[in-house]
Amino acid sequence: MKINKNVEEILNKQITAELWSAYLYLSMSAWCETKGLKGFANWMRIQFQEETTHALKIYDYVLSRSGEIKLAPITEVENSWNNLLHVFEETYKHECLVTDMIAKCYEVAVSEKDHATASMLQWFINEQTEEESNVLEIIDQLKLVGEKGEGIYLLDKELATRVFVDATQNGAN
Ligand code: FEO
Repeated sequence: MKINKNVEEILNKQITAELWSAYLYLSMSAWCETKGLKGFANWMRIQFQEETTHALKIYDYVLSRSGEIKLAPITEVENSWNNLLHVFEETYKHECLVTDMIAKCYEVAVSEKDHATASMLQWFINEQTEEESNVLEIIDQLKLVGEKGEGIYLLDKELATRVFVDATQNGAN
C-alpha cells in the first residue's frame, strides 16, 4: 500500500534532520581535528557516517512504499565550541531532540494505522537509546579525566579505535 501523506511528510522531515545531524557531527569532527584530538575526531566522523546511514534507511523505506522524497535545505551548523565537554553536552542535547522527533514519527504512523512504518521506526527507537547512552558514557569519562593530561590522551587513543559499522544493514544497533 502506498505510504500515507502525513507519514511521508514527517519521514521526509526526519531524513533532513538525520542529514543535519551528520553535518553537525562532521563539523564537530573538524573542530576536534584542529585541536589535535584525532581520536575524538575519528569518533565524530563515524558519528557523521552513521547519521548518513540513518537518513538513507528512511529514504530507502519511503521509496520502497512508493512515496515521494523531498529533500529540504540543510541549515548551517555551529563550528566552534568551548571545550570537549561542551561538544559532547551539545551532542547529547541533540540526540535527545532526535529521540523526540523519532517518537513523533512513530506517533503519526500509529495514528494513521501504518504498522509497517511503526515497525521500521522501532529500529530507530532502539538506536536512540544506544546513541544517548554512548554519549553519556563519554561525558562521564570527560568529567572524570578533565580536559588535559594523560587522561585525555588515553581517552583520545581509545576513541581512535572506533570503527564504522553500518548497523542499518544487519538490524543490529
Ligand atoms: Fe540518527 Fe544520532 O540520530
